[in-house]
Amino acid sequence: MNASIEFNGNKYELPVVKGSENEHAIDISTLRVATKGLITLDRGYKNTGSCESGITFLDGEKGILRYRGYAIEELAENAGFLEVAYLLIFGELPSKAELEKFHQDIKNESQVDEDVKKILDGFPKSAHPMGVVSSLTSALIAFNPGSVNVDSKEDMYQAIVKIMGKFPVLCAWALRKKAGQPLDYGDDSLGYIDNILKMMFKKPNQEYKINPVVSSALNKLLILHADHEQNCSASTVRIVGSSHAGLFASISAGVSALWGPLHGGANQAVIEMLEAIKEDGGDTKKYMAKAKDKDDPFRLMGFGHRVYKNFDPRAKIIKKSADEVLGDLGIQDPVLDIAKGLEKEALEDNYFVDRKLYPNVDFYSGIIYRALGIPTEMFTVMFALGRLPGWIAQWREMRLMKEPIGRPRQIYVGETYRPYMEISNR
Ligand code: ACO
Repeated sequence: MNASIEFNGNKYELPVVKGSENEHAIDISTLRVATKGLITLDRGYKNTGSCESGITFLDGEKGILRYRGYAIEELAENAGFLEVAYLLIFGELPSKAELEKFHQDIKNESQVDEDVKKILDGFPKSAHPMGVVSSLTSALIAFNPGSVNVDSKEDMYQAIVKIMGKFPVLCAWALRKKAGQPLDYGDDSLGYIDNILKMMFKKPNQEYKINPVVSSALNKLLILHADHEQNCSASTVRIVGSSHAGLFASISAGVSALWGPLHGGANQAVIEMLEAIKEDGGDTKKYMAKAKDKDDPFRLMGFGHRVYKNFDPRAKIIKKSADEVLGDLGIQDPVLDIAKGLEKEALEDNYFVDRKLYPNVDFYSGIIYRALGIPTEMFTVMFALGRLPGWIAQWREMRLMKEPIGRPRQIYVGETYRPYMEISNR
């Protein structure tokens, strides 16, 4: 199948690539050479496929999300986070023995060099934990130089289990530093999720009891966030990795990309918005009007999505989970009442209905994290913990496919040539 393009009186044939879910893409890799200079322009890459990938399939119109062919609904209901991580990274659900080995290999790599604590010490307590986590992840390179230039599958595996083991420790340390708590290395006898909870929340003078409701909610949340194909942070990971900068550097860049309020930072922004509305008297109608006013920069955080234009399947699952968690933990919270009010009004408002703006996964994840007692600034770090296997899978696939270095083109719209002018004449 071909597509043709006419330019300057000439016609060019371009091949059309078909994916396993019948998606089509015009392969323009020969366009610039064949046309002697013509490129495509696609701000924000809304129409551009950057790669062929076998990891995650999503259909924004139908609200479908699948990891390696498995529906997100089935995985969230039945699987453990580490099982899903294995699936995303290596392509198949693990056998019991494979999963145990993966977990054991991760545990064997879950210590972080004590000197990393000195770097952490240099941060002010007020530092945002995403900045701390991104910096510490990058710092890991210095302590694990053997994980940078990895070519063989075995070397990649070692780098993967290292980052899967050490990243949660760094995330927990970022939280404990903020809370003024001693740093903890966790407990290898626990499952991956329970260990994260203990590393984060164990008080130095108290035994930490795992609450199964909290553990199961976190397991589900991390699975829902584990991958989302070529989003801003995954694309960042792939493009940084395409220069062969190494897995840890790529993940560090992914954390920075996720930090922004238009991406992973939305879950923090949701709660901050709800709190601001509460402080301002709880008038949701006033904020609905602000969100619709084109002269007002305010947006309803947690609403809308770049690809889901009917509903976000993760939001459906998580809304149910939010109701369960709030019920089980017996939480009464005026901020959560405001959230429900906003959701109801937005779903009935023509502005939001016409633009297909629905609550996204982060609208509810913020609510659950708040109910679990996780500090607001840590919400995006929790998202990063979930997204880690997705980033790894994207990086590994990019390297195994031997993708070339990412290097987009541009249309230059600046000044044309002008001669240098001496400073005394300017
Ligand atoms: N509140 C009010 N209006 C909105 C919102 C919102 N949250 N989101 C989009 N719109 C409006 C836009 O103003 C625009 O209106 P117009 O057509 O009259 O100009 C229209 O809806 C389309 O918006 P775009 O920005 O073009 O949509 P895009 O797909 O580029 O952006 C995005 C998606 C960035 C998620 C946007 O909806 C947004 O900013 N939402 C709030 C932030 C958020 O929740 N981000 C989390 C995303 S999920 C994730 O990262 C896991």
